[in-house]
Amino acid sequence: MVPLAAPQIAWFEGLDDCELVLVDPQAPTGELAAALEPAAAVLVNSHVRVDSPLLAMAPHLRAISTVSVGFDHIDTRVAVERGISVTTTPVLSDAVADLTMALMTMALRRLGEAMRDLSNGVWSNEILGADVRGKLLFLVGFGRIAREVAARALAAKMHVCAYDVRDDLEPMPGVERVASLADGLSRADVVSLHVDLNPTTHHLLDDAAIAMMRPGAVVINTARGGTIDQAALYRALACGQLGAAGLDVLEREPPDPNEPLLSLANVVVLPHIGSATTETRLAMLECAMTNVVACVRGNPCAHVLQL
Ligand code: DGY
Repeated sequence: MVPLAAPQIAWFEGLDDCELVLVDPQAPTGELAAALEPAAAVLVNSHVRVDSPLLAMAPHLRAISTVSVGFDHIDTRVAVERGISVTTTPVLSDAVADLTMALMTMALRRLGEAMRDLSNGVWSNEILGADVRGKLLFLVGFGRIAREVAARALAAKMHVCAYDVRDDLEPMPGVERVASLADGLSRADVVSLHVDLNPTTHHLLDDAAIAMMRPGAVVINTARGGTIDQAALYRALACGQLGAAGLDVLEREPPDPNEPLLSLANVVVLPHIGSATTETRLAMLECAMTNVVACVRGNPCAHVLQL
């Protein structure tokens, strides 16, 4: 169900005796159902909603392989009930961490404002940003991507602290683990989100959480838009309570053209391109295909979610 080019399928070993069917997820229901009825596995990206009506069209499904690390587009409850394996592609940490640092630098140095001015014909070289060095970065979630961000931030001479609901995570030299979300929020200069979107993280940053943050703090989100109450973020940025935001993800993608956040000078918005490098996207595709082969053949697969 992802738009694969034929040569990419051809070079992939292990699927030679399988039939591969490419379907547009927007295709009429009949067409979708005909393709899904015999399917042992589906390969999707994060834009395809794998919900219960779609899963009902695939009675023989054994695996859902998503070309993404996020899996909030998949109804995992139904997958668990039916014993369907769900696999992801956790091979994008460097690309997303690079983009996180880029957004953080843009926000702190006010690069978005400078670029906007320039495209409006204004040469505003008196814009003063803030140093990256010496700032306290709070990582909300301390998984693979957050650890890559931490490594880069420490190299940029930032202080780094992190919070994660899992307390069995390996410590990382130079990174302070804080005991609560509130503790990190109340101290940080920059808060960067690295959590899955699920009912417990939906609107994790809401009015109440934002109220705990330091005046002028910066918010970075390269995880999922739904982790932030966008209206609350807008209010805090518009009145100067927060200093800036760098967002690669939004609650609604693509956003309504009248989305108020898009009008703010202190906000940089990117179109969900955290993993969008040629190397990373190819690695993700290869990983997703390998996951399909393993699951369909009944072989061990390291990327099956433990749901
Ligand atoms: C991911 O892999 O989850 C990226 O955000 C792309 O959706």
